Amino acid sequence: MSLIKFNNFHFRYKGNDEYALKNINLEIKQNRFILLAGETGSGKTTLIRCLNGLIPQFYAGYYKGFVEVSGKNTNETTISELSNDVGIVFQNPENQLIAMNVEHEIAFGLENLGIPREQIRQKIDETIKLTEIEDILDKAPFEISGGEQQRVAIASILVIEPNIIVLDEPTANLDPLFAKKILALLKKIQVEKGITIIISEHRMDLILPIVDDIILMKGGEVLDYGVKDKIINSDTFKNLNVNKPKIYSVFNELRKRNQFKHDIPVSIPDAIKIIKSMI
Ligand SMILES: Nc1ncnc2c1ncn2[C@@H]1O[C@H](COP(=O)(O)OP(=O)(O)OP(=O)(O)O)[C@@H](O)[C@H]1O
Ligand SMILES: [Mg+2]
Repeated sequence: MSLIKFNNFHFRYKGNDEYALKNINLEIKQNRFILLAGETGSGKTTLIRCLNGLIPQFYAGYYKGFVEVSGKNTNETTISELSNDVGIVFQNPENQLIAMNVEHEIAFGLENLGIPREQIRQKIDETIKLTEIEDILDKAPFEISGGEQQRVAIASILVIEPNIIVLDEPTANLDPLFAKKILALLKKIQVEKGITIIISEHRMDLILPIVDDIILMKGGEVLDYGVKDKIINSDTFKNLNVNKPKIYSVFNELRKRNQFKHDIPVSIPDAIKIIKSMI
């Protein structure tokens, strides 16, 4: 059984003529770190909204086909039940933070799961430390910065330990150093717990070394999906209007000059090896 399955799924927001998702067929397995990449307006956020049932249950519109998460049809399972399987950090976390203060925000999801008090305390303390939010625990969500809100939203998902974690541009308001830290933390959690993480992220240089697979989207369609080396070296990726990682640009230029004929590497150590062998 796939962890996530889209079957001939289409979705059009009410009031729009165009379908935001067109005939999506995807099967996503456990224990993968997946980058969701595509131009602005290509349907990334819309696809993410399908994973906890917000589409089709909450957003008004029209749909065809179906989506299953852990074998559960997302139109026949409550959003709150799906949220135990799938934790989502949305693009604008301020809309997601609802508790009186940061500490309550993080405890909120756990209390709803009926976990014993001592365990709750331990998990919260661990998560607070990992996401470095010790200093803002008694602040209200509206009193903290965008970057801090992002950390809190990430913490409130991590603490629940779902099987699938989805993040929609989670580092947009974080400085590069902290963005790198958070991505490394997500990778560590993914590998240690064997969960699946799906992330939409513009910082290609930071994200590419840690992902396993890439989904490419354009105009509401999934153009390609597969292991990163294959996708990065495809014409579809070359022609797509998305940020290209620096290593990619360098090797693509060498290719154009006929000085490089092999697959473009995705990590700095691999790039260095290739360059050394070329000298
Ligand atoms: N709540 C909504 N109501 C109506 N139309 C929407 C809504 N959200 C998104 N859309 C439309 O659906 C299409 C896909 O948008 P979506 O936000 O999924 O793209 P995206 O790939 O996440 O873009 P970005 O990279 O800018 O975040 C766009 O045409 C957008 O205008
Ligand atoms: Mg989006």
